[in-house]
This record gives sequence, structure tokens and C-alpha cells, in this order.
Amino acid sequence: MNKRIVILISGRGSNMRSIVEACAAEGWPARVQAVISNRPDAAGLTFAAQHGIATAVVDHKACASRDAFDAALAAAIDAHRPDLIVLAGFMRILGADFVRRYEGRMLNIHPSLLPAFPGLHTHRRAIDAGCKVAGATVHFVTAALDHGPIVIQAVVPVLPGDDEDALAVRVLAQEHVIYPRAVRWFVEDRLIIERGIVKQRGDEPQLVMSA
Ligand code: GRF
Repeated sequence: MNKRIVILISGRGSNMRSIVEACAAEGWPARVQAVISNRPDAAGLTFAAQHGIATAVVDHKACASRDAFDAALAAAIDAHRPDLIVLAGFMRILGADFVRRYEGRMLNIHPSLLPAFPGLHTHRRAIDAGCKVAGATVHFVTAALDHGPIVIQAVVPVLPGDDEDALAVRVLAQEHVIYPRAVRWFVEDRLIIERGIVKQRGDEPQLVMSA
């Protein structure tokens, strides 16, 4: 049976796009049922609609409280009966109850080598700290922001002269490699979490190193 995926975005949606395209090109046992944005102007909604994927907007500005937003978002998600929820550049902090509801079936991508640099401005912070490597992490979502069992990481060099835009481009290219891979492992039932560590049935590496 095909796994049902719902993807949450807030903007450009390039990670969402990489997942939609890999799902089709590689014939995953899955279907992206819906793309939901908290922002009505998210560019990624156009791509989704053009590819025949249901779209919805749950505007946080129209919700009276964080709890009301979480409830409206959960209702929009549950309408599609997903097996997996994928946060792809989704820029709202979700409450503990919301996270618990989807525990073990919600993934996020964060543009740093977690547990370093949770939160915003990861590339600038990595450069300012003199890091020689940076990267991205796909992890299961837990109540702590940008924290949770790590599925796969990509490492890229921080090059002399990098500014945050240059580093972001290098990291994003690897995000588009590791996020589809992590989602495929999930829909192929290959991920196991043991005492907070994610193992993968199979021999594909959970670390990608890029020059
Ligand atoms: C990505 O760098 C992602 O890691 C971060 O926000 C950015 C979203 O980009 N959380 P896109 O919307 O997927 O293009």
C-alpha cells in the first residue's frame, strides 16, 4: 500500500520539490497527498498545484493563538490521513501536543550539523564560529526545537571567503540529496529508532560528504 505523505512548507519549497520529483522518478511506494503552507504566498504552492497535488493554507496570522493554529493545522493534515508528515522549510514552531500527535512519523530538515546551531541564521553562525564544515540534518521531530533522532546528515566544507549566501547554496544542494533519501527510507519501512539513534535496514550511508 502506498504511504501517504503530507508536506508542510512556508516559502520557496525547493526541498518539497526534490521529494515530489524523486517520488515520481524513483517510483516510491508513496504519494504526496497534499502540500500545506502557513503562508498564502508560499511559492511552493504553485509547483504543488501544477503537479496535481492538493494544496491548503493554514494562515497563522488568522489564528487567535498558537494552540488554535496547531489545531487548525492538525485538522488540515489529518484530512489527508498521512503516514508521514514532512516539514520542508516550515518556519513555525509547533506545540508539544501537536508534535506528540505525529511522534515517529514527522521529519524535519535543518540546515546545520545538529546538535550544532539549532534555530535561525545557521550559516552565518557557522561562519562566525570559524567552522571548517557545515551541512544539513534530517531528523525525526521531537518537542525540542531542531532536536530529535538523526536520520541522515550531509557535510560540506566552509570555504575561505564564504558568506552566508554562498554557504547556503552549497548546503541546499545537499539538502536536496539527503531529504528525498530519508523520506524514501521511511516509506520503505527501513527506519528503526533504538534508544534515540536511527538505524536503517540496508546499506545506504546515513552520512553524505561533499566537496
Ligand atoms: C532550507 O534550507 C531548510 O533547511 C530550512 O529552510 C530552507 C527552506 O528551503 N529549514 P526550501 O523552502 O525547501 O527551498
